[in-house]
Amino acid sequence: MTDKQSSRKTLSRRGFLKLVVGAGVISVGGYVLFEYAPWLNYDQQVNSTQRSLEKSSTVSIQMRELVRYATLAANGHNTQPWKFALQENAIEIHPDYARGLAVVDPSDRELWISLGCALENLLVAARAVGYASEVIYPDAADFIRIRLTADTPQGSPLFDAIPLRQNTRSDYDGQLVKSADLDQVQALPLEPGIALHFVTNPANLETVVEYLNQANLSQYADKVFLDELIHWLRFTKKEALASLDGLFTRCTGNPEVPRWLGQLFVAGTQPQQLADADARKLRSSPGAVVVTSQSEDKTAWVRTGQVYERLALQLTALNIKSAFLNQPIEVADVRRQFQSALGLGNALPQLLLRFGYADPMPRSLRRPIEQVLV
Ligand SMILES: Cc1cc2nc3c(=O)[nH]c(=O)nc-3n(C[C@H](O)[C@H](O)[C@H](O)COP(=O)(O)O)c2cc1C
Repeated sequence: MTDKQSSRKTLSRRGFLKLVVGAGVISVGGYVLFEYAPWLNYDQQVNSTQRSLEKSSTVSIQMRELVRYATLAANGHNTQPWKFALQENAIEIHPDYARGLAVVDPSDRELWISLGCALENLLVAARAVGYASEVIYPDAADFIRIRLTADTPQGSPLFDAIPLRQNTRSDYDGQLVKSADLDQVQALPLEPGIALHFVTNPANLETVVEYLNQANLSQYADKVFLDELIHWLRFTKKEALASLDGLFTRCTGNPEVPRWLGQLFVAGTQPQQLADADARKLRSSPGAVVVTSQSEDKTAWVRTGQVYERLALQLTALNIKSAFLNQPIEVADVRRQFQSALGLGNALPQLLLRFGYADPMPRSLRRPIEQVLV
């Protein structure tokens, strides 16, 4: 081989290497672009569903706006398990059982609580735009019906709080809630059969931590529970924007990662490690609330959802954040022990949330009303 030939060969080997590196960079870059889709605008999508209510003179626009505000309510795993039927002077809220959570919520208890949350937003918004409401609860029928009649508009701090309320899952700053604010929250009007049990004493909060830990260990060790959770997790902005539902990792304070990595993390982390993170969050909060009901039926669940949403709106109006930690109520055995350890008597624990001060977190998405109208 002449010198000239060998130098050509070296050059072509270098060229080949460059080609391989170049192709690698392009495919990794392409994968990152594909996975994270920076051109998709998450905030713009949030604003399109969570903008302030448009007070229109057209009844049909008003009704659609009431539905949009209803969809901003809290709901389990952000499944948005609802459908709305618009009628003359009435709106119906129907369950969307296809969006039920068979593992964590086998009796659709949390599904009906979610419908109650949506109902409360709708009633507060209806009052603000000038409707008096009459609610027919799902005792006989399998839906909620709200009859609307024209009335004087009555805005309220709770109405203003609807697009701002969120489940803020970060660590809180540990500061005690101002006592005048706590008094105002504790004076909130309730629904028949529903009560709020406030836990602010550190020793009692430790009791809550104990049952939270027990329930977390049980849930995180259960593969079927994890599979359902992973199904509703949205690991990237692109995934969240594709479905407009589910739990986007950024809203839980976690980074965006490819699905395979996120799944590995959720299923591969020690249950105790995940439970410890929740215990830390509860300990960073100056208080917790248990929402209880006297009975276990659809109407009680809907009224539970109403009271939770009212409470969360009131907290939001006072710039107090809150987040659910329902695990001790979701695990049947733990629920009974939790009820007796907190001295709730016959009152059935339905929801557990913590509250305190923190910065807001990224907002969760909602499907547009076209997708929830029947
Ligand atoms: C009945 C019910 C149960 C919920 N359980 C939990 C829970 O155990 N842990 C949690 O972090 N969030 C829980 N959530 C909160 C939802 O995940 C949250 O409302 C939903 O993702 C929408 O987000 P947003 O409330 O910030 O708008 C629950 C909500 C409802 C209504």
